[in-house]
This record gives sequence, C-alpha cells and structure tokens, in this order.
Amino acid sequence: MNDKEKVIIFDTTMRDGEQSPGASMSFEEKIQISRIFDELGIDVIEAGFPIASPGDFEAVTAISKILKNSIPCGLSRASKKDIDACHEALKAAPRFRIHTFISTSPLHMKHKLNKTPEQVLDAIKESVTYARNLTDDVEWSCEDGTRTDMDYMCKSVEVAITSGAKTINIPDTVGYTIPSEYTKIITTLKNKVPNIDKAILSVHCHNDLGLAVANSLAGVSAGARQVECTINGIGERAGNAALEEIVMAIRTRNDLMPFTTGIKTELLSKASKVVSNATFPVQFNKAIVGKNAFAHEAGIHQDGMLKNRETYEIMTPESVGVKKTSLVMGKHSGRHAFKEKLNDLGYMDVTDDVIQTAFGKFKILADKKKHVYDDDIAALVDDSMVLDKYVINLKSLKVFAGTGEPQKAEMTLDVYGEVKSTSEKGDGPVDAIFKCIKVLYPHDVKLQLYQVHAVTEGTDAQATVSVRIEEEGKTTVGQAADTDTLVASANAYLSALNKMIIKRKKTAPMERETQKVKGI
Ligand code: KIV
Ligand code: ZN
Repeated sequence: MNDKEKVIIFDTTMRDGEQSPGASMSFEEKIQISRIFDELGIDVIEAGFPIASPGDFEAVTAISKILKNSIPCGLSRASKKDIDACHEALKAAPRFRIHTFISTSPLHMKHKLNKTPEQVLDAIKESVTYARNLTDDVEWSCEDGTRTDMDYMCKSVEVAITSGAKTINIPDTVGYTIPSEYTKIITTLKNKVPNIDKAILSVHCHNDLGLAVANSLAGVSAGARQVECTINGIGERAGNAALEEIVMAIRTRNDLMPFTTGIKTELLSKASKVVSNATFPVQFNKAIVGKNAFAHEAGIHQDGMLKNRETYEIMTPESVGVKKTSLVMGKHSGRHAFKEKLNDLGYMDVTDDVIQTAFGKFKILADKKKHVYDDDIAALVDDSMVLDKYVINLKSLKVFAGTGEPQKAEMTLDVYGEVKSTSEKGDGPVDAIFKCIKVLYPHDVKLQLYQVHAVTEGTDAQATVSVRIEEEGKTTVGQAADTDTLVASANAYLSALNKMIIKRKKTAPMERETQKVKGI
C-alpha cells in the first residue's frame, strides 16, 4: 500500500495555457486533449473560462460530458454572472469544480479593481458563498497573491474558507516570487489562518523568471497539496509551471519529496505531442519532453551510457513514454507494421481514416527517403489527424527559386471541392506560395510567425514548418511536415487557414462565414 501523501494535479492547459499568444485551440483539439488528459490521470482539468466567449462555454460544456475520471473545472471572476456561466457549462458532470478568483494585491485592488480591501473581502464572501450553493467543490484564488500583504492574505483566505472554499490557490500571477519567499508564504498561511485545515492549499506559478517549477515544488514541500500547471509549460507570457517537469521531479527525487501523483507518466510524451500539435512546437532542449531530453551526443557520455545507463540518465525515456527503439521503417514496411509502430509511439485512438491517410503519406515519404524515423511518422500522423475537417487542400505546387529570376510559384488548390490554379511572383519562394493561396482563397489574416525546423537529421530530413496567423484577435497555428520545405510551408499555411475557418464557424453566425469566403 502506498502511504505517501498525494499531490493533486490541476491542469490549466486549456485555460491559462490557451491565454498564451498563438496557443488558441479549436473545439476538436480541446476534445482530443481532454480525452488524453483524462487517461493521463490528471485530477482536475480547468477546461476554460465559460463567460469569456461562446467557444469557451461550448468547450467546457462538451468536456464536462466526456470526462470519465478527471473533475472538470471552469474559471470565473467574483461575479454571479461568471459563476452562473460556469455552473451552466459544468452541471452535466457528476462532479465539477467552480474556480473563482479576485485580486488581493494593493496594486491590483487599487488600479485594476478600483476597490478598497474591505470591498474585496465582501466580494470574496459573496462570490464564494454563491458558488458554494451550486457545488461543494469551490476553489478560490487570490490573484497576484505573491505581491499581497501577508496579513491581508491571511484574512482573505480565512474569509474564503469560512464562505465554503475547499481549495485555496495562491497564484504567483506575474512570476515574481522565488522559492524561499514562496515557502514562507505557504508556511505562514498554514501557521496563521485559523481554519486552514478545512482547505487544501494550491500553488500556481508563472515562469517570468524561469522559476515556476522550482517555486511550485517549494510550495509543495511547504505544505501545498495541489499544483496548477500546464503541459509543455504553455501559458501567459513566459508560461506556467510545466506539468511533466513537476510530476517527474516528484517521481525522480522522491527521496526528498515523498509524495505521489496519479499521473501515468508513460503518457506524458503523447500528451505533450498532442498539445504542441494544437499550439506550437516544443523547444529541442525542453526538460522531459524535448527531442533532445534523452539524447546523448558526447562520446564520453555515450561510452558511460553503454557501460551503465545510470551514469548519465536520471530517468528512463520509457518512463515518460519515449521509446528508444531503433526499428527503422522503410518502403518495404507494410500497413500492419505501420499500425504497430503507431501503437508504439502512443497513438492508440487514431481512426482508420487517419491511419489510411498517414500510411499513404508514409509510402510516398519512404520512396523519397532511405530511412523513415519515429519522428517522421509522428509528424505525418499529427498532420493527418485534422485533415478530414479541411476545406482547402493542396493539389500541386511548383516553385521557381534561385538567383536571377523573380521567384514564382504555380499552385493548384481544392477550395471547397472546386479545383483552382494560379501562378504568382513573390519576394522569395515562400512569399510567392502564400500569395498563390491568397489569390485562390481571398482572405485577410495577418501572418504572425513562420518557423522551419528539421525533424530528423541529414539532408533528406523532413522539415516541419509552423505558421501562426491572426484574424480579429483570434489566432491559429498550422504545422506540416515534408522533405520539401516549400511544400511543408504551403501545407502549414493551409493548415492554419483551415483551422481559422473551423474557428470562425464556431464563433460567428453563418452570414459572416459566407461574407468571408469572398470569391467562392
Ligand atoms: O495567474 C493567475 O493569477 C491566474 C488566476 C486566474 C488563477 O491564472
Ligand atoms: Zn495564471
């Protein structure tokens, strides 16, 4: 029997994580992510901020209906309207949590809320009591907690608990604190708030100084028993504490942090891939889930590893779901081996249609490339997963580049079932490609980011291209992989554009969609 104390893992990838520029997720992506999070063993999933937009409301409602293990949660300000929206979106779930917050720092109370400390105490009492009448699982957060006067924080926490909050969250909203200070805050709350034993203390750290994980772990060591975090550490500005880093730190240094979490760590890599596919790529050297996290290049390290893995490995790649397999797929590999490979890579719930599309692309790639590596295949499947919803697809592309002539692209697209072609000159081949897309499907979006990464090594490596576009405050990210960087560029842009079309449909009435599709 495991008698270690449990740390509750509260994930906010789809709420605080989505507030990160370029991280907005489509409804379908949120559903896919929720299913994986449910399987991963996350205790509480903050699925959105229901009052914020109809899209958020709809996603929280749908997620609340599909979760089998995790508790769904929605965010609300200290207002009855917000709390009602949360309740409405969550109420289909057998158990759900309402998370309500208000700022408590002098700076926020004066300049953001224009309220006195006494008025804020009244708002805490009123909002928590109101939420408590709708569910017995109420969480309260003091926004900008780490810049709040300590005596005032103790008072506000006491009021929140008296009013019915079962979880008290202390956010380091602006990523300002350091481990020793955060330890002191949590310890003081435990020592000074008279009814603190009636609630679970929670930590919520932002990464502006790169200390989010260190601060969260300091908070846990000081007595917090819930950590709020996101997969890949995505979130406002520099992000939130990364779930995978918190969980693996607790597991790996259990001698110093004798706690358990309910996370099935072998699914971390898969969760990271699905989130990065919906948002943006993970940096190569990212702890736990980066491509290089388990790679050993230096000769001395390789030699040590061959003699005994523990010389340079503090956790096994298998423990986070990274298979160190050398099984290389090639053009002779069949559908069965391909399916087995997908299973090995953690793609368990992929539909037959997606497998079919990805297998077709794999065969084409295997013809072009000697070895097709695991990362190549993962990139192909990630691409194929959302393809069936796309209404604009690339049929063919020819690019004229190099010195001398102006660069030119010839493109044929399938636009809502109609095949259209054009040829456009550009300021470089990528510009020419993007111009073709604009001519064939007139639209008005801003290109915010264009990034190329090599997924595998060698001159025949697959390139992954990421494109982020923006339209009326909404952003979408498209990624695509191909051995031809220009084909990947066209597909990445089209992927972002298709996602924007899906997003428009979710948030705008039909007429607006028709107006946007000018020329069709
Ligand atoms: O960082 C923060 O303060 C938050 C709260 C809304 C919990 O995200
Ligand atoms: Zn936050």
